[in-house]
Formats: sequence, structure tokens, C-alpha cells
Amino acid sequence: MLILIQPDEAGVATYAYEWLRQRIQRKPRLVLGLATGSTPLRLYRAMVEGYQRGELDFSEVITFNLDEYVGLSRHHPRSFYRFMHEHLFSHVNLRPENIHFLDGLPDDVEAHCEAYEAAIRAAGGIDVQILGIGRDGHIGFNEPTSSLCSRTRDKVLTRETIEDNRRFFGPGEEVPRWALTMGVGTILEAREILLLACGPAKARAVAAMAEGPVTALCPASALQLHPRVTVVCDEAAAAALQYQEYYRWIQANDYRLHEVVQKAKQARDTQPDH
Ligand code: F6R
Repeated sequence: MLILIQPDEAGVATYAYEWLRQRIQRKPRLVLGLATGSTPLRLYRAMVEGYQRGELDFSEVITFNLDEYVGLSRHHPRSFYRFMHEHLFSHVNLRPENIHFLDGLPDDVEAHCEAYEAAIRAAGGIDVQILGIGRDGHIGFNEPTSSLCSRTRDKVLTRETIEDNRRFFGPGEEVPRWALTMGVGTILEAREILLLACGPAKARAVAAMAEGPVTALCPASALQLHPRVTVVCDEAAAAALQYQEYYRWIQANDYRLHEVVQKAKQARDTQPDH
């Protein structure tokens, strides 16, 4: 797990945008897993601006969102589907047929979730999964005690998550208690994962995810088992990390690895007895 600490939220979004831009440019038909919530909003704004500047082309990109509230239709103002349209989809040239979403009003939950998994497989699997993290360590809506091999399914949200989500709902509006979500096992199958975390409320969850034991009590800790996870967090979200100094040390030195090897090779090649 590569942990990059940025000074603030803007720094997190700038890094995340650049990371993603390189991947979309390298593979125009990128299969991109997306999250909702406040954390990726700045990244989505940067993606829209990148598209407007002509830097990014989404015409071949395929998306799969992580989750959707049960009981809300796609057109409900608080559905994740609407959220994604407002913040990203309607501002870039993604093809509607390339946008995949779980349906909050499925006729048959199990069949619908299986079909979602099949659609991910048919697209060739997720290349890049963007994640946020809940205060309780959830990823997608895999709440604590979720199986670390779980697949797409329905999940009852914790009271804490319901309260955290209340800010997106109007006064007196009921916050859904259920969601359909990709499972932890589904997420772990993505080829690469970019997790973003900002603000002091995430500090405990970030530390548990990166440095705690792998446990269903912190579903994000399962990411320790994935070989290609990049975590980009701001100072506040990094505050409880025990190995902070080491992560900063890696950050300061890692990009020079190539340079150091090149220099050493040049030195070796100029040795007379080489
Ligand atoms: C949403 C999702 C959730 C959020 C998490 C953090 O699609 O998958 O796991 O990423 O609840 O939410 P924010 O970013 O609002 O703090």
C-alpha cells in the first residue's frame, strides 16, 4: 500500500487527477470504478475541467459505480445515480451505454447483483477503482463485519453511516437504511485501487486500514491484501498513522529510484575493468 500525504484536500484532488489522467490516456477504454460522497467531488470537478481543456476523453471509458441506496429510483434527487450525473456524467463525453449502476429498485436483489458482477466480468474487470472510506472503515457500503470475500449484495447501513449521510438529505427526509454495494471481494479484484481520504474524521479509519490487523471490523483493512493500492490523504486524515515519517520518507525518495539506478549503471559502465 503506497501512502501519499498531501498538505490539504486540494492537493489530494490534484494528485488523484494526475494519477487518473495518466491511466485514461494510457488506456482509453479504461474500466473505471467510481465512488460517491464528498471526498471524490474535487477529483470529479478536476476531471470535468480536464475534459473541457481537451486533456481527457471519456468516449471509450466504461464506468461501474460502487453502490446505490435501496428504495430510491434513479431519478430520485438523492440517488447516487443522480449524484454522479450532476457531478460528472452530464459534463463529460461518457457514452450512456458505458455507464453502469446498481438499481435501487430491483425486482430481484440477488439476480440484479449477480447481473452486475457479470457485467463487470464482461467488461474485462475493473482496471481502476476509486474509493473513499467511511469513519467506521467501510469501503463501498461494506460495513464492519462484512465478509472480506463478499460479492455485490444488499447491506444494512450502520446508524453511524446513516447519520453521516444525513447531510445529503433535506430536513425531515428519511435516509435509506439499505444499500446495494459491490462486495469487498469484488473491490479486491480491481487491478488498481486509488483510495482518497480527507479530514480529521477519517484519521482513525485510515490508520486502521493501513496499519491495523486485517479484520472484518475494518473492511478497508482488506486492501492490505491487494498489491496495487495507492492511498492519497491530507494531513488531517494521516494524523493517526504510526509510520507517517516512513511514508513521507518514501514519498521524498521513491521518485528518485530510477535516477539512482541509472547513475550507478553509468558509473559501473565507465569502470575500466567492466
Ligand atoms: C460511496 C461510498 C462510501 C463513501 C464513504 C465516504 O459511494 O462508497 O464508501 O466513499 O462513505 O464518504 P464521504 O466521502 O462522503 O466521506
